[in-house]
Order: sequence, then C-alpha cells, then structure tokens
Amino acid sequence: MDSKINNLNQKLAKAYLGGGEKRIERQHNNKKLTARERVLYLLDEGSFEEIGALITHRTTDFGMGDQQFYGDGVVTGYGTIDSRLVYVFAQDFTVFGGSLSETHAEKICKIMDLAMKVGAPLIGLNDSGGARIQEGVRSLGGYADIFYRNVQASGVIPQISAIMGPCAGGAVYSPAMTDFTIMVEDTSYMFVTGPNVVKTVTNETVTSEALGGASTHSTKSGVAHITSSNDVICLEDIKKLLSYLPQNNTETPDALPYQLTDEIRESLSTIIPDSANKPYDMHHVITGIIDEDSFYEIHKDYAENIIVGFARLGGRSIGVIANQPMFLAGVLDVNSSKKAARFVRFCDAFNIPLLVLEDVPGFLPGTDQEWNGIIVHGAKLLYAFSEATVPRVTVITRKAYGGAYDVMNSKHIGADMNFAWPSAEIAVMGAKGAAEIIFKKDIQSAENKKAKWKEKEAEYAELFANPYSAAERGFIDEVILPETTRKKLIKAFSMLENKEAHLPYKKHGNIPL
Ligand code: HXC
Repeated sequence: MDSKINNLNQKLAKAYLGGGEKRIERQHNNKKLTARERVLYLLDEGSFEEIGALITHRTTDFGMGDQQFYGDGVVTGYGTIDSRLVYVFAQDFTVFGGSLSETHAEKICKIMDLAMKVGAPLIGLNDSGGARIQEGVRSLGGYADIFYRNVQASGVIPQISAIMGPCAGGAVYSPAMTDFTIMVEDTSYMFVTGPNVVKTVTNETVTSEALGGASTHSTKSGVAHITSSNDVICLEDIKKLLSYLPQNNTETPDALPYQLTDEIRESLSTIIPDSANKPYDMHHVITGIIDEDSFYEIHKDYAENIIVGFARLGGRSIGVIANQPMFLAGVLDVNSSKKAARFVRFCDAFNIPLLVLEDVPGFLPGTDQEWNGIIVHGAKLLYAFSEATVPRVTVITRKAYGGAYDVMNSKHIGADMNFAWPSAEIAVMGAKGAAEIIFKKDIQSAENKKAKWKEKEAEYAELFANPYSAAERGFIDEVILPETTRKKLIKAFSMLENKEAHLPYKKHGNIPL
C-alpha cells in the first residue's frame, strides 16, 4: 500500500510541476501566474477539486511518446466562488505552449458537460498556442468538440473567458463564442494568425500587441469586453462579473439585502445642461440612479457613444444601456448598435432586467456608416430589444429623435414602463433640421430668411421639444422629476418582478447578422 501511495504522490508532484521548473520560471518572468496558481486564486480557499490530473496525451508521432506531461497542458475541475459552484479550466503554457491536444480537449469537454448537466457557470483561463501542431486533425477535432459545446451552452449557463497569455488559432474562437472575454494587458494576445503568418501572407509588419493585444481588442475590434492590468486583477474581475449573474438561465441573480429609504437623489436635477446641444456625462446619471459603487461597465473603451454595464438597484442586479452625449453626441452607429444588442441579448437570456437611459439624436449619417451596414447593424439592436422578455424600463433624459426613439426600448417594441424627464425632446428630428424641411417655402420667401428660420424652429420646438405629446398618447407613462428617478425605478422594477412574457413558438429567430 505504501508504495502505491508513494507512486500516486510522485505522479501528482509531476502533474503540479507542469512543463517543469524552468518553464514555470519563464512564466513568472513574463509576469504571468501558472495555471494552478490562477485556479487557486480564483476559487474559494480549499474548494478546488481537480478532475483528470493524471491524464497524458496519446500521440507518439514526432517523438511525442517521450514527452508526456501529467494533466496534458490544462488544469480542469470545479470549486466555488463566493460559495457558488463554478467549473473551471486553466491552460498551462508550460506544457507545449498550452496547445490543445485530443486529450486536452477531452478534459475541457468533460467539465463543460458537467457544467451543463448541473447548471453552473463555466470559466476558461486561456493561455494557449492553439491546436497542438503535432496532433493534426485530432486537435482540430478537439477544438470543434469544444466549439459545439460552447454553442449548446450559450444562453443556458454563463460562460466567461479570460485571456491570460498569447492565444492563437482555435484558442480564440472558443472565447469568441462565450459571453465575456477579459484580456490581461501587456501579456495576452488574441489572433487567428500571428505576426509571422501575417508577414508571410500579406507582407504586413505588425507587432503582437498591435495585432491582437488587449488595447487593440478593447478599442478597435470589440473582441475584449474588459481589460485587466495583471493576472490577479483579471481573476478579481471574473469574480466581480459573476456576482451580477445567475447560475443559469432558469434562475435570477442573487439580490443583495437592501433597506429602502426616501430614495430621492437631488444630484440628478442639475445634470442636464441649459442648451440642448451641450454634452453631459451619462455616467453621472447612471451613478445618480443606481446603488452606490455598483456599476460594472462592459466594453468601456469600445463604441463609447453607448454605455453598457451591470449595476444594482435596491440590491437587485440590472443591465444598463445608456446613450452617451459626450461621444458623437450619443448617436447610434454600427459599433454601438452591435455592442448594445449583444449586451441586451445576454441580459435577456439570463433574466437580468434592463434599464435604458436615452439621449439619442438619431443614427449617424454618412457613407462610412451606410457602406459598413448601419441598416443591418442598427436592426440588430431593434431586434434584440424587441425579443427581450425581461422587465424593461426606459428613462428619456433629453433627445429621443427619429428611428433611434423606436429602437431605444420604446413602448412600441415591448418596453414595460417608459418615463421621461421634463427636458425630454421626442420628435422625428431636431427643431432646426425639421424647420428647414417643413417650412422651406416660408423661409425662402421671407425677407429675413435667418429670422424666419429661427421663428419656425421655435414654433416646432414648442410643439415637439418636450415629452408631453408622447405622454398624451401614452407612449410615455409618466413625466418625472429627475430627482425622483431612482425611487420610480425601484418601484417599477419591483412591480415587474413577476413579469411573464412568452415569444411565439419558433425554432429560433433570424436576427440580422
Ligand atoms: C505545439 C506549441 C504550439 C502549438 C506553441 N508551442 N504553440 N506546440 N503546438 N500550436 C510550443 C513551442 O514549440 C514552445 O515549446 C512552447 O510552446 C512555447 O512557445 P514559444 O513560441 O516559445 O512561446 P512564445 O514566444 O511566447 O510564442 C507563443 C505563440 C507561438 C505566439 C503562441 O508559440 C505561436 O505562434 N505558436 C503557434 C500558433 C499557431 O499557429 N497555432 C496553430 C493555430 S491553428 P518549447 O518546447 O520550445 O518550450 C489552430 C486551428 C484551429 O489552432 C482552428 C479553429 C477554427
């Protein structure tokens, strides 16, 4: 018996060593934790249970039979975060660059299957050179097995991907199909093909950072939802994100205990500037409404003309979608439509109510937008709101112009409660542009054209630059004073808590992709 236990301990010691001390040292020198250190930091102390620590690869080609490493480049298992069950895999870059072999893929699939059976979140800590080149189609098949499971799990359990090293090829497609991708700054990259292949195929010279670093993917491509300054912050970010989410699509997120007070927030009454064309920071409106320090922004540096993120209102988790007048006057364009649509669909899939704060002058005009498909991308947001069945509440703070009024969670597309501040302007377009079109003849025939234009602009503004004609038709449920917004929203979401809505039977809709 003793020799059997010694044997086991030796094997486990080898498994814990991954690709060996030198490679672990390299990992640390590169300011990266090892796979095992990451898992232990992420999970509640003592909660990690490893599955498959003694698995090795089966390949014998290219002398691989002599290079066996227990665990085969990935640590897999389950544990808890804040006492909630999660499944986790962490790729071990010290073993063949964390590349994915047939058995490595089988280990990941095993915990994905368990996560689906039990209904608990899946967290992937990715650090991988992609398909293990020595295994050919077996590793490609392994990736496809994972991709397939990512899709089956989509909308059923939350899937979070952290990118914690260079990730190439298949190592980026699985994260792309999960719900959130968090990248570590300076040490992580994501690309389908690396700089060397780019150089060979296109003769373009580019660094790994410029091609697929955290900054590139959080500002240019939108592939990264969140960036973290190092491994530890990244793992903390995962924990924080998880705190707003339920375990699966049959549950609602846990609410924090909250004692109601008067809930009046005076700071909200002075945010809207006197002039309709002056910008203001919508973050101030968000923080004025929600529970203190509860906003967790997603896609912070991408398509900044719209803000999305999780927050708490009276202790409950909500998703916030808000136009940002500070950037491009808060217009809807290709990127902001895609960003918001994806967020709306995530919240809807996981029973997280939606709060929309609206100040939008319309869709961005121009050839760039039209040629890049603003029609189809804008339609994504319209589609996402229209199919959402979670409680949905809108507050129009200032402009709600044109098609954007319809799109931004109007009552017409299924919003439950719509409020407007007295500063709201709900119209087909701004008064200046409207006057120029509908009073063209009056303006042209006037002696003083400028004065006539101003007069007609004022006439139009008097009629439409307010929330009252929308309220008279019931498109706005109530015009509210800004300082009462938090109170009204807490009541509205509480009233909607038991909302039930069902879409007509269908296999699935056909969102304009
Ligand atoms: C086998 C690999 C590997 C791979 C890296 N290694 N990638 N082994 N298969 N895919 C090994 C290296 O040989 C090296 O072994 C160790 O991992 C560390 O790699 P380095 O190159 O020294 O590290 P670094 O300089 O940090 O570069 C990391 C890297 C680079 C950017 C990931 O290794 C790289 O470009 N790898 C190949 C990426 C790639 O093209 N993958 C296949 C994609 S195709 P030693 O023994 O020296 O320590 C794919 C198809 C899926 O994934 C399609 C799905 C749609």
